[in-house]
Amino acid sequence: MNWELQISICKYKKTKYTLKQYLFQSERLGFRNWQEADKVAFSKMNADPAVMEYFPTTKTKEESDKLVDRLNDHFLEKGLTFYAVDQLKNGEFVGFIGLIHSAMETDFTPCVEIGWRLKKAAWGKGYATEGAIRCLEYGFNDLDLKEIYSFTPLPNKRSERVMQKIGMTKIKEFGHPWIDAKDPLFIHVLYRKEKTK
Ligand SMILES: CC(C)(COP(=O)(O)OP(=O)(O)OC[C@H]1O[C@@H](n2cnc3c(N)ncnc32)[C@H](O)[C@@H]1OP(=O)(O)O)[C@@H](O)C(=O)NCCC(=O)NCCS
Repeated sequence: MNWELQISICKYKKTKYTLKQYLFQSERLGFRNWQEADKVAFSKMNADPAVMEYFPTTKTKEESDKLVDRLNDHFLEKGLTFYAVDQLKNGEFVGFIGLIHSAMETDFTPCVEIGWRLKKAAWGKGYATEGAIRCLEYGFNDLDLKEIYSFTPLPNKRSERVMQKIGMTKIKEFGHPWIDAKDPLFIHVLYRKEKTK
């Protein structure tokens, strides 16, 4: 079921969450909008210091739940989000990979950003790369986006490696406007991929 139909059903039924249906799939992963039921597994992931190493802090359950609501709202408003991602073989939630409109004020925004965050047990299997390639394809072909950006703190080499593996090009480094200039996470790398004809 496509995103427009899912949103129409939500509006008709006056519900906040869409049905648990994949919008699209890759070989091993399913991409969908968020469910209230994702909050437990997502909050465990956001409380893990390894997962949150390159963020200012881990997230409390309340903060994590609010993020699920925001990502759900983003989907209902814009038709895209950092999608909840399941392993297709067993339906297990592994984290998010997806596309959002960046809320930051910089010289490259407004823009659509691709991002990823997976639970530690799912790392090192190529899921982020596989999922991000599928999201780029979905963004360019189904959503007709012309360009997609990604950024991460300079020390987050794992995330930067995913950007390189999915064929993005480094544009520059920049200071994140929401982070203190003295913080080691302040300098970010910026990558971009343009739609090819
Ligand atoms: C970033 C993240 C999504 C990667 O997920 P993943 O499924 O393990 O990624 P993949 O397996 O597709 O690819 C990771 C690549 O990084 C490489 N890598 C791992 N650790 C690395 C390091 N310290 N330095 C450089 N490269 C590293 C891997 O070897 C692999 O590249 P390769 O296939 O060329 O060997 C995952 O680590 C994560 O969720 N991290 C926490 C959240 C986060 O930082 N999100 C990004 C915020 S901007």
